[in-house]
Amino acid sequence: MASHYRPIVIWFHWLMAVMLVIVCLSMEFISLYPKGSSGRTLMLSTHYLLGLVILILAVIRLWLCWRSEPIEKPDHGHMQKYVARAVFILLYGLMITLPIIGWVDIGLWDVTVSALGWQLPQIASPDSVIAEELSQIHILMAKTGYGLVGLHGTAALYHHFILKNSLHCAPSPI
Ligand code: HEM
Repeated sequence: MASHYRPIVIWFHWLMAVMLVIVCLSMEFISLYPKGSSGRTLMLSTHYLLGLVILILAVIRLWLCWRSEPIEKPDHGHMQKYVARAVFILLYGLMITLPIIGWVDIGLWDVTVSALGWQLPQIASPDSVIAEELSQIHILMAKTGYGLVGLHGTAALYHHFILKNSLHCAPSPI
C-alpha cells in the first residue's frame, strides 16, 4: 500500500523514534557506569541534550502538522478517531513537557550541562526538596510515555498487518 505521508513526516517520525529510544536507554542503563566516570557523564549529557532536541523537533513537527493540508483519511469510526487523537495529543504533550520538566529539574539539582564549549542555561535555582519531587514526576511521565508508545505501536501494527490499511497522521486537529 502506498504511503500517504509526506516524506518529511516519515523522516521526522523515525528520527524522533530513534532519539526517544536513545534518550530513554541512556537513563535506564546509567547504573552500568560508576559515579564520576566519563561513561556516566556521557550518558547524562546525551540524555539532557538529546531530550532538548526532542523538545525542539516536537514543536517543529506540530508546526508542520498545522501548516500542512489535511490528508484524506479512511473512516475508522468515532471511537478509533478519538483514541488516536488522544494518544497523539498525549505523546506530543509528553515530548514537550518532559524535557522542560527535566531542564527545570537539573537546575534544581544544581547540575550544569555543557557541550562543545556551550553551557545550557540554568532555569531554576537549586532546591533539593522540589528537585526530588520533580524527578519523581519526570520519571512517572516517562513511564506513562512507555505505555503510550506501546499503544501507538500496537495500533500501527494492527492497522498494517490485520486491517491492511495505514494509519494517518492527524495533521491539523490541534
Ligand atoms: C522526551 C525527552 C525525555 C524523556 C523521554 C526522558 C525520559 C527519562 C527516563 C526514562 C528517565 C529514567 C527514569 C528511571 O529512573 O527509570 C529519566 C530521568 C531523568 N531525566 Fe529525562 N527524559 C527526557 C528529557 C530530559 C531532559 C531534557 C532533561 C534535562 C535537561 C532530563 C532530565 C532527567 C533527570 C535529571 C533524570 C533523573 C531523575 C532522577 O532519577 O533523579 N530528561 N528521563
